[in-house]
Parts: sequence; structure tokens; C-alpha cells
Amino acid sequence: MAEIAVIGAGYVGLTTGACLSQLGHDVTVADIDILRIEALQRGEIPFVEPQLSEIVNSGIRSNNLKFVIGAENACKNAEFSFLCLPTPPNDDGSTDLSFFQIGVEEISDLLPPNAVLINKSTVPVGTAASIKNQLQRTDVAVVSNPEFLAEGNAVNDFLKPSRIVIGADAPEDAARVAELYAKIDAPILTTGWESAELIKHTANAFLAMKLTFVNEIATLCERTDADIQDVAMGIGYDPRIGASYLNPGPGWGGSCFPKDSSSLAFIAREAGFNFTLLEHTIDLNRKHVERTAMKVLEMLPQEIHNQKIAAWGLTFKAGTDDLRSSPAIDVLHHLVAEENRICAYDPTVTQQIAQIPEVHVETDPYICAENADVLVILTEWEEFKEVDMARISEIMKSPNLVDTRNLFNREQMEKLGFTYLGMGV
Ligand code: UGA
Repeated sequence: MAEIAVIGAGYVGLTTGACLSQLGHDVTVADIDILRIEALQRGEIPFVEPQLSEIVNSGIRSNNLKFVIGAENACKNAEFSFLCLPTPPNDDGSTDLSFFQIGVEEISDLLPPNAVLINKSTVPVGTAASIKNQLQRTDVAVVSNPEFLAEGNAVNDFLKPSRIVIGADAPEDAARVAELYAKIDAPILTTGWESAELIKHTANAFLAMKLTFVNEIATLCERTDADIQDVAMGIGYDPRIGASYLNPGPGWGGSCFPKDSSSLAFIAREAGFNFTLLEHTIDLNRKHVERTAMKVLEMLPQEIHNQKIAAWGLTFKAGTDDLRSSPAIDVLHHLVAEENRICAYDPTVTQQIAQIPEVHVETDPYICAENADVLVILTEWEEFKEVDMARISEIMKSPNLVDTRNLFNREQMEKLGFTYLGMGV
């Protein structure tokens, strides 16, 4: 079993470190955030992620998962060092690689001879080559091993992946990294650095495009009396299309799709290629969010001013407490602009949020919906289905329901007295 360092204890780093320890490796996770590391040493996870707490605590108990402050304390004895550092977007869509450059700088002299430096974060094509260049170490191999972890399912995605991609400039470097995953039953694809990096961006951009396509078809369904759920099922059976990522929504978001699509479009522009399909996908998603907000406004009784909008769901999807680039918040921003009172409920959000201070956050779905003129469902939390919708219909001022995730059934909601609007249904 290998001695492994993981630099960065965010979503990717923590999941990677905990899962590698679960595979039997000796893992040390490092971060510069002292409070985060101290909490992790006590087995406390800083965000909502199913199964992660169990495997972190089992790693701590078996003593093959440790948490330290500062990369140097993790790397100096590690044969493999994983870089799991933030790659935030710049205003022009490009990727800010400064965390990477600083991280590599910090550890370049500390890595032991024959070490492998592996990049797991999502980075622009060409990053592995520039890391190799920055390192100035002929005795250290650089490998690109992108993550494909979806929040809310990250542990499962790591331990039961659809594939493992390893980009290296020498087959023996790729083989050493592949060995780390020997216990995982998944196809391993070995490529050059650049292809591995582009695979990650392409996967996210492709899925984003698929979702935009579905959201556009959902809009067409609304104008033609077709039902997107039937249409999605009808095309999803075709293995060339595939049944997943066919659910319409308020627009796609999160910490990855928006940033990665913009980064890929930027890379294409820099390479002298105008990637109009991707540029349009990004633009259409923005328009779809606006269209979603319009649906809510159209449901409001026109004659009354200062109406109350109740919103269920603030995170970018169910199963996470992550608010980054949340389409739910984007929709609410459009609604706030129309001077309405907005009250929100989300199972993982208990306080007012800085991203949209105008929205009053309630911790009870009934109080949130009380006297509301419209209720909009923005994420697909299963918990919402447990709420007594008959009571909600009674306590709202006007029982108008905009269900942007098609979580509820139109006939059932209409029976309860709601005026119902879904997405493409
Ligand atoms: C995404 C990818 O799915 C992961 O494979 C990737 O590793 C990760 O980004 C990353 O780059 O780190 P994640 O951001 O957690 O994972 O989110 P997804 O579950 O893919 O959802 C993205 C957005 O699409 C959300 O706003 C979600 O609500 C929306 N979505 C997804 C739909 O509207 N409909 C669907 O059918 C599926």
C-alpha cells in the first residue's frame, strides 16, 4: 500500500483522501485552513456529503487517514502527492491557477526522489506540462488524473467510477498511478496529459449542453402540448443518447458546469477556434434561468403589489449544501428585482445567505409558504415530497405552484387546489 499526500481538503481532496484510505493506502490530507484541519482531526466534515463522515472516521480509527496543516507536512514522505486545489474562474471565463502555482512552488523542493505529483482538480489543457516545467525536477513524474465526482454522490463516484482517466507522458508513470486503484473495478483509460485534461472539461461541457438541449425541448413541449417526461424517456432508451441528465430544471449550475464550460470556451478562443455551440449553450442557460423566473412572475395575481413568493430550495441541486453558482439563487435574483417579498426554505440552509440578503430564510416549509401568492420549487429534495401539500394549499394566499424540477404530479396538485406549472409538462 502506498504513502499518499493529498493537498487541499475541499470536496475533491477530502473525498479523494478518505476514499484512498478506504482502499488501504496511508493517506495524509493537508490544508492551510487550520480550523478545517482541526475539525477533520475530530472527524467533523465541513459540508454535506453522504457517506463521507463514515469513511473519514473509519480512516481516522484505522490510523491510515491523517490531517495536517500545510502541504510540506504531508508531501515530504509521500510517494504520491495529489493536488486538489481550488481553480476559481477569472472574470473573462479563464481559470485562475494561482493556487496551483503557489502549491507547486511550496512543495517542489520537498517531494522525495521518484515521487509522482498527480493533479486531480479540473484545470485547463496544458496545466500538467506547465506544472512539470515549474517543478524543475527530472526525478518527479507529473500525472493528470481528473475527478468525476458529483456532489451528493462523491464517495460512490470515487469507489465505483464509470472510468478512471490517467494522463501521463510516460507509460510507467501511468502504471504507477493505476496501481493505486487496483481494488476498483472500472475501465482505466491511459492518455497523454492534454487529452486527460480535455476529457474532464469536455465531459462537463457535454453534460451541460445535454441539459440545455433538454431545457429547450421542455420549453417546446409546453408550446405543443407534449410532455418532456415522455419525450425524455422516449429518447433515453436509445443507448446512443442515454437516460441520465435528461431532467429539465431551472437551469444548470453548481461549482463545476458554469466554470468549466466558460473555461473551455475561453481555451477554444485562445486556440483561435470560436466554439459557438458551447458559447450558445452558456448563453441559452442564462436565458433559461430568466424564463424560469418569468414563469413565477406570470403566476402572480397581477392586480396586487408587494406579493409574497415562497421558494423551496436554495442550493444548486438536492443532496448538497453547496450554494455556489446556484440557479435557484439566480432565479431569485430576477424575482427580487421585481420588488416582491421572498421567503425561502432549504433543508440544508438555516440562516440568511450572503448571496441574496433580500431573501428571508425560514427553517420550516409551512411557515415559508404561509400567505404566499406563489410557491416555487427550485431543487429536487425528496424531503419536499414529505410535506403535507394539502395543508400548504390551504395556508397559501393563492395556491399557485411553479415546480421547476417536476417533483410533483400535476393531477395530484390540481386536486389539492393548486394552479400548477411544471417544466415541459
Ligand atoms: C459535476 C459532474 O456531474 C461531475 O461528474 C464532475 O466531476 C463535477 O461536476 C466536477 O467537475 O467536479 P456536480 O457539479 O456535483 O457534478 O453537479 P451535477 O450533479 O452534475 O449537476 C449539475 C447541474 O445540472 C445542477 O444544477 C443540476 O441540478 C443540473 N441537472 C442535472 C439537471 O438540471 N438535470 C439533470 O438531469 C441533471
